[in-house]
Amino acid sequence: MIKLKIRRQDGEKVWYDLFEVEDKPGMNLLEALFYVQEKLDGSLTFRYSCRGAVCGSCGMLINRVPRLACKVQVSELRKEPTNEGNPEVLIANKKKETDNDEILIEPLPNLDVIRDLVVNMDPFYSLLETVRPWLEMKNEIPEKENIMDQETQVKLEQYTNCILCAICHGSCPVAERDRKYYGPAALAKAWRFDFDPRENESNRKERLEIVDSESGVWGCDTVYKCVAVCPKKVAPTLGINELRNRIDTNKKKEE
Ligand code: SF4
Ligand code: FES
Repeated sequence: MIKLKIRRQDGEKVWYDLFEVEDKPGMNLLEALFYVQEKLDGSLTFRYSCRGAVCGSCGMLINRVPRLACKVQVSELRKEPTNEGNPEVLIANKKKETDNDEILIEPLPNLDVIRDLVVNMDPFYSLLETVRPWLEMKNEIPEKENIMDQETQVKLEQYTNCILCAICHGSCPVAERDRKYYGPAALAKAWRFDFDPRENESNRKERLEIVDSESGVWGCDTVYKCVAVCPKKVAPTLGINELRNRIDTNKKKEE
């Protein structure tokens, strides 16, 4: 058996419930949550969709590390300490040789809880919108397809892999203290569109002006927590550094 200690929250109060789940080989944490919902407490609320680590819906704090519930095996979590009582959001958990029969599950930090493990993603999406996350057609439309060299395509691809799970946002110390900070995902997205050779120059310029601020790239503490926790290896801090360099280079050119 495995015990899930889950943080519960309704409109009025916060509490923790302990549930015992039959531990089956190959079971991931999302399946364990389904077991609770189907057999023990139908009111347990959590979000999921794909069950395959591509929709980004099941992000939560597991043993104080933000992760996708569908991507993490219960057998692996058994080898970890729960880190209960640790106020810090961790980026990794030390593997132990001990067999821990308890897992601590809490909602993703830095976003308001709607109920139990479900957070309000609206502010996260609004911050994303701020950086104009789209391409605009160039004035000169190519006669055939837009050709991109392979080096650019490979570099770009890393950033297109973002599934908007907000796990990076939940680990970010700047997002914790400043709700106006665009956050790692939005800034990584800004770099993705800035770097894209198909982008229209005026849209690129406008986006760079938006992120050239304390709510943007200059707010980042450069602690690389988002890089460590991203389940898709997007590396937001590297994108933020690239944007900072781009802004500095442009300013030098203008001088
Ligand atoms: S950058 Fe990574 S952690 Fe952040 S939202 Fe995208 S996939 Fe999730
Ligand atoms: S359910 Fe889609 S990422 Fe976990």
